[in-house]
Amino acid sequence: MTVTDKKKSLSLPPGNNGLPFIGELLELIKDPYFAQKRHEKYGAIFRTKLLDQNVIYLRGTEANNFLFSNEKEYFETQLFKTTEALLGKSSISVQTGPIHQSRRKILYQAFQPRLLSNNINEIENIARRYFENWKNIKILTWYPELKKFTFDVACKFLIGLEKASDTQLGDWYEAWEPGLFSFNTLPLPWTNFSRAMRSRKKLLNEIEKIILDRQKQNDFNSDALGILLNAQDENGNKLNLEEIKNQIIALLFAGHTTLTSALSSLCLLLAQHEHVLTRLRTEQEKFPRDEPLTLEMLKKMNYLEQVLQEVLRLIPPVAAGFRKIIKTCEFNNYQLPEGWMIFYSIASTHQDLRVYFEPGRFDPERFSPKRNESKNKPYSYIPFGAGMRECLGKELARLEMKIFAALLVREYEWKLIPSQNLNLNFVPVPRPIDGLKVYFNQRL
Ligand code: HEM
Repeated sequence: MTVTDKKKSLSLPPGNNGLPFIGELLELIKDPYFAQKRHEKYGAIFRTKLLDQNVIYLRGTEANNFLFSNEKEYFETQLFKTTEALLGKSSISVQTGPIHQSRRKILYQAFQPRLLSNNINEIENIARRYFENWKNIKILTWYPELKKFTFDVACKFLIGLEKASDTQLGDWYEAWEPGLFSFNTLPLPWTNFSRAMRSRKKLLNEIEKIILDRQKQNDFNSDALGILLNAQDENGNKLNLEEIKNQIIALLFAGHTTLTSALSSLCLLLAQHEHVLTRLRTEQEKFPRDEPLTLEMLKKMNYLEQVLQEVLRLIPPVAAGFRKIIKTCEFNNYQLPEGWMIFYSIASTHQDLRVYFEPGRFDPERFSPKRNESKNKPYSYIPFGAGMRECLGKELARLEMKIFAALLVREYEWKLIPSQNLNLNFVPVPRPIDGLKVYFNQRL
């Protein structure tokens, strides 16, 4: 018996196929704890069927280790058809194999530490402009505001555009994004998908104008776009215009929806945990209020660091990652057949009782040097994924969250408006159902 035959003779992971035609899709949509409940019943691995797609869910240190250590041989990224069409074939999230690896090296240059630290003051200024506005409005629905903030930061960082959410680019982006998560690809003009495809064209045209302008100015150093325009692959080839446009759209998306979710979870959890907020404010008293933030100051904000880590553990903006199995393999004596999909669950991994004490509780102390619960447990803390597709923008994300949080807690206060629905919608990213309504004020 060959190794492949042996793998094929193993049994499938435990689980259920659900109803004919739809499988367990309705259960998945209705129940945010769909995966968690099944992991509790079956353990680290279970199978299900969603429409006609067979899916295997994985969670936990060992399963993640298996996935990320064997990614090259057995797995490939898998996106919905709509997502692929809207991001474009030459975007990092869709590319696979050697071209993906080569592009990661190029795009990584756009997130090098020098560029990140050059942007600290820019991010601070954008945050201050928003705080000032919110202070004047006093009552706000925070989620859409945070979305504008992260869009402005992403556009400034990536393409050097100021106040992007007030431009047409912002409007087109808003019409484009909902299409990414629509299953309906029928060519009817009024569907989210068709509207998004029309907006994609406008977005690409606008980005092209910005690129051509930049090339005329000969400015290749000040932001990510400049660096991408100049970057070369290992054979000395530059990225062509079409690809740069697609890469920029992919980065805008990857970097801004996730961060919006993270910031809204931070604001919600701090409003609900007064003692954490108080301790954060005490830490901030060590830093001069009238001086701009610097990398050195940010590095010393240890408790804030713990709080941000805990926010991303408890409510990870990306709850799961998807892969296609390209060659039959085995895990825990179960067969993982070629053609099936893998969902590796970040949210469930972060709820592992073997790693985290009372994992459902918001407890930043679990990341203190004394407890450090996930230390020496590889792949038990993976808000940014891991392996060949680990988040390229994770340092930018951490920096932006830290700057925003430091200024917010030292200078402002906010209270949740009563009688709103604070339960989370999880698709496409976690966010409070009523959008997080707050009273916002300057601290005395
Ligand atoms: C809190 C904020 C963020 C979170 C939680 C997050 C999370 C993730 C996760 C889990 C993945 C891996 C998905 C997979 O395994 O398939 C990923 C990939 C990626 N992220 Fe992020 N991300 C964040 C912010 C950003 C930012 C700010 C950028 C850039 C502007 C960015 C750019 C990317 C890119 C380009 C990839 C794809 C990498 C590849 O396919 O090789 N992300 N992110």
